[in-house]
Amino acid sequence: MSDRGSLLRAGAVASVLLFAACRMEQRPMPTVTDRPFGKLPDGTEARLFTLDNGRGMRATITNYGGIVTSLVVPDRAGQGADVVLGYDSLAGYLRTTPYFGALVGRYGNRIGKARFSLDGRSYTLAANDHGNSLHGGSKGFDKLLWEAAPFHDTAQAGVRLHLVSPDGDEGYPGRLDVTVTYALTDASELRITYAATTDKPTVLNLTHHGYFNLAGPAAGDILGHELLLAADRFTPVDSTLIPTGELRSVAGTPMDFRTPVAIGARIGEDDLQLRFGKGFDHNWVVNGPAGTLRLAARVREPRSGRVMEVRTTEPGIQFYTGNFLDGTIVGKGGTVYRHRAGFCLETQHFPDTPNHPDFPTAVLRPGQEFHSATVYRFSAP
Ligand code: GLA
Repeated sequence: MSDRGSLLRAGAVASVLLFAACRMEQRPMPTVTDRPFGKLPDGTEARLFTLDNGRGMRATITNYGGIVTSLVVPDRAGQGADVVLGYDSLAGYLRTTPYFGALVGRYGNRIGKARFSLDGRSYTLAANDHGNSLHGGSKGFDKLLWEAAPFHDTAQAGVRLHLVSPDGDEGYPGRLDVTVTYALTDASELRITYAATTDKPTVLNLTHHGYFNLAGPAAGDILGHELLLAADRFTPVDSTLIPTGELRSVAGTPMDFRTPVAIGARIGEDDLQLRFGKGFDHNWVVNGPAGTLRLAARVREPRSGRVMEVRTTEPGIQFYTGNFLDGTIVGKGGTVYRHRAGFCLETQHFPDTPNHPDFPTAVLRPGQEFHSATVYRFSAP
């Protein structure tokens, strides 16, 4: 090979490397910024964090209730739209909210008759839902101001939220130390990890209560979304949505989402469970071993092409179709949230587990560390 040839080749290699280096430098990195979001009645200030994954996804998250107030996701044409329900300002969340985008605790979902016993002692909770206790009681984690620490690296931008719930808070025993981390990754995921410790035996069920509409804001109801639930069984409920204790096969019932089905296809069927839930408002038993991150759900919105996959380490997932939305809430940008304007996929322990010794335990004891993870991954193939 001539000297000139190898020189030319070396030159070409050098320019390719330089081009790649420039591209790498130009590649937008995940970022996080922070601004005031308004004041709580006691004068303390809530913050709003904007997470940007550098690849077209953006989330805003406030440390009031750990609420994801917006989540912008590209459609198949690369056009971003906000796919979660909520309010434009803190005032909306303070006035009234059906848990839009919030972190729910100490016990997400219901505890029957608002009581349970643990190690021979009985505990009474706020009966805030037809005699049962719902979503942590009157002032659950969705209504608390969390300490917040933003972070970012080359692959993700996030915010770490922390709070201490004192012994006896909302009737629950033990001083609970909780950390929830939200991260928006360069793999188009919203990752939520939960960690907790206690100084007395207690029960715990932490979840995220996002209402999704993958078609974007003001898109109408979610009945056209196609849903897959990786679950062979669900927990049937009584008329107040407390599980009977049975793990029932979904086969031959409107609860069968083992292959994708439009949410609206069977929601109107004359079925006792659907009547109790006024639609879908049930917990499915996620297939595969709890404690490992595995597929729980996949939702596809045909018009936009957006797909959301939910993976979790939790044993169950509550699928709720916004049955209580009735057009009285005016949300972001003046959008009226009508019946079934959003759906929730809340990864969780089964409802009323503290009163069902057969369900995977929700007990946390001193010396143990609770860990759980849920990943919402978006694409538009
Ligand atoms: C959960 C419950 C529903 C309803 C909503 C909030 O998803 O399962 O029954 O309470 O929260 O309105």
